[in-house]
Amino acid sequence: MSGAADHWDKVYAAGPREGLSWYEPDGGVSARLIAEHAAPGAPVVMVGAGRSRLPGALRTSGFGDVTALDLSDAALEALAAEAAWVRCIRADVTRWVPERRYGVWQDRAVFHFLTTPEAQAAYRRVMVQALAPGGIAVIGTFDEDGPERCSGLPVQRWSGAGLEQWAGADFVPRARLRQVHVTPQGREQPFVFVVLERV
Ligand SMILES: C[S@@+](CC[C@H](N)C(=O)[O-])C[C@H]1O[C@@H](n2cnc3c(N)ncnc32)[C@H](O)[C@@H]1O
Repeated sequence: MSGAADHWDKVYAAGPREGLSWYEPDGGVSARLIAEHAAPGAPVVMVGAGRSRLPGALRTSGFGDVTALDLSDAALEALAAEAAWVRCIRADVTRWVPERRYGVWQDRAVFHFLTTPEAQAAYRRVMVQALAPGGIAVIGTFDEDGPERCSGLPVQRWSGAGLEQWAGADFVPRARLRQVHVTPQGREQPFVFVVLERV
């Protein structure tokens, strides 16, 4: 598909997910924020789902309609083998054309790879199309004092206020929190998460 897809396929083929710097053994902050802020059972799209354990956590808390979107075939194949009930879509999130609307848009450590205003605007357009009014976006990126790279790629770091401002008038901020993720290698990575409600 692209150089970016090749990068991620190689990352996922290189070893078990438990060694990936972004690995979490459970649904993490996203699972908690979705349970707190989404309508019960709302359909969820995970953008840049990777090898996340979030689908299992969502199903346990009553969210059984989950779509996983990613650039990487390797990630989606592994996800489908583990959770056949999840709908998988191979796409670049900035070019995706959603065929339905969702109640939850979830992104952890994906948006921060978009480092140009054009790519960020394209992502925002897709997010607006994909979310039903009243639906929520849960977005987690490296915080302002987080690492400058992730998976060897440059990232843009954000503040919670910066994310809320970027989201603009189509969204009302509902929650914001900081989380310090500890990688499997023991390094600390500050994240910021925002919950934004689609007007
Ligand atoms: C750092 S990983 C995070 C994975 C997952 N969200 C988690 O928290 O475990 C980033 C993921 O985003 C995917 N990705 C990167 N850029 C993307 C894009 N433009 N469109 C769709 N997926 C993308 C990668 O393939 C990878 O699975």
